Amino acid sequence: MKESDQSIVAFDAHEQEHANLEKLLATWGAMVAEKKANRNDVSVLLAGLIETLQSHFDHEEHEQGFFKTVVKQAPWLSEQAQTLMDEHCGMCQMLERVHSHAQEDSPHDAWWTKHTDEFQQFRRSFLRHERSENDLLQQAFTQDIGSND
Ligand SMILES: [Fe+2]
Ligand SMILES: [Fe+2]
Repeated sequence: MKESDQSIVAFDAHEQEHANLEKLLATWGAMVAEKKANRNDVSVLLAGLIETLQSHFDHEEHEQGFFKTVVKQAPWLSEQAQTLMDEHCGMCQMLERVHSHAQEDSPHDAWWTKHTDEFQQFRRSFLRHERSENDLLQQAFTQDIGSND
């Protein structure tokens, strides 16, 4: 398999992981919108999301992963790539905090108010991060197409 074909396969898998994470986020969002879900179900969903997120970040940071492939293609984007990689740890910690707070025993309304705030905060950070990665990929390949003209 040519190196460029391997990159396409890797980017397909990367896109699929983004789609899976967004699906989990949408399920969580539906629970938050209804405010009826069993707290234990929310907690189980969050545990799954943490695991999926961590594994996604590990794949991105891998030697043959998303960032290394992008930077190999477009070395001038290495600083932006590093900034995005540096966000991973903070996002995992944020989600672990939400998970831990979700297990606290507090009155229904107070619990959902806090949980909704935390959901929105995480969702904003996460979507911004993933959008920046998609932009990074596009920049790497747009520049490349331009340079081959
Ligand atoms: Fe990432
Ligand atoms: Fe990502």
